[in-house]
Amino acid sequence: MPIPLSSESLSRLVSSLRSAGCVFAEEEARLLTAEAGSEAELYAMAERRARGLPLEHVLGWAEFRGLRVEVDSGVFVPRRRTEFLVERAIAAASAVRERPVLVDLCCGSGAVGAALISALEGARLYAADIDPAAAACARRNIAARGGLAERVFQGDLYGPLPGALMGQVDVLVANVPYVPTEAVGLLPAEAREYEPRVALDGGTDGLEVLRRVAAGAARWLAPGGTVLTETSERQAPRASDVMAGGGLAPRVWADEERGATVVTGTRAE
Ligand SMILES: C[S@@+](CC[C@H](N)C(=O)[O-])C[C@H]1O[C@@H](n2cnc3c(N)ncnc32)[C@H](O)[C@@H]1O
Repeated sequence: MPIPLSSESLSRLVSSLRSAGCVFAEEEARLLTAEAGSEAELYAMAERRARGLPLEHVLGWAEFRGLRVEVDSGVFVPRRRTEFLVERAIAAASAVRERPVLVDLCCGSGAVGAALISALEGARLYAADIDPAAAACARRNIAARGGLAERVFQGDLYGPLPGALMGQVDVLVANVPYVPTEAVGLLPAEAREYEPRVALDGGTDGLEVLRRVAAGAARWLAPGGTVLTETSERQAPRASDVMAGGGLAPRVWADEERGATVVTGTRAE
């Protein structure tokens, strides 16, 4: 239940958020008031937000495809445009078989995997992230949606996945970091200062992690299986080449409304 605030206190809270640069100050004030357990906690949260922390880190959660996904401090905040990646992955999984085997590589908070198992009844989901804080967060979010926490691993790309999965994966989603190194400094401060560099920096051309994912994908995918990744519109042609370089048939999907681009690579049947 939101803590009761006088209209004067509420408008002071909104003004302080607005002067700190929060564009949606009213909405943020509503969310903070609903989340805080006491007035003291509310002001502490508002103060953290005014200092520049992402709203989701202050609240401890983000909304993603209608789910409330926990986002720990220092873990990448799932972006709403990534819902398009999930939609393409659901379409790919539904086209393959009824109880697909899914992998959420570079899982971060596990938002993508959690959304996938919420939508695909009977799916078997594995996930991995190099960052121990992300893997711990993903375990909770995936278990909360009926997945198994012990199938969430910490480690470098395919390294920690069980070998028995080789050649068995129907859908491999990898929302890799894809910001070119020299553009990381141009990101909004919320990302630059509060999200780990390993979640953002995709190397010189932004495609270095994707290159490694694509190079290994054919070994892990089942025949007819698909790997999906999010990228920028500008990078999409080169990301397609990267998929083709991994022996996969590439395709680009765009959702202009959400400004989202997804590149897929499918293994031959
Ligand atoms: C852009 S974030 C995406 C997180 C999540 N999938 C999402 O969509 O919200 C990229 C994630 O990749 C992870 N990562 C970066 N390099 C990795 C690697 N070599 N192996 C595994 N995970 C990696 C980062 O820790 C980060 O959580």
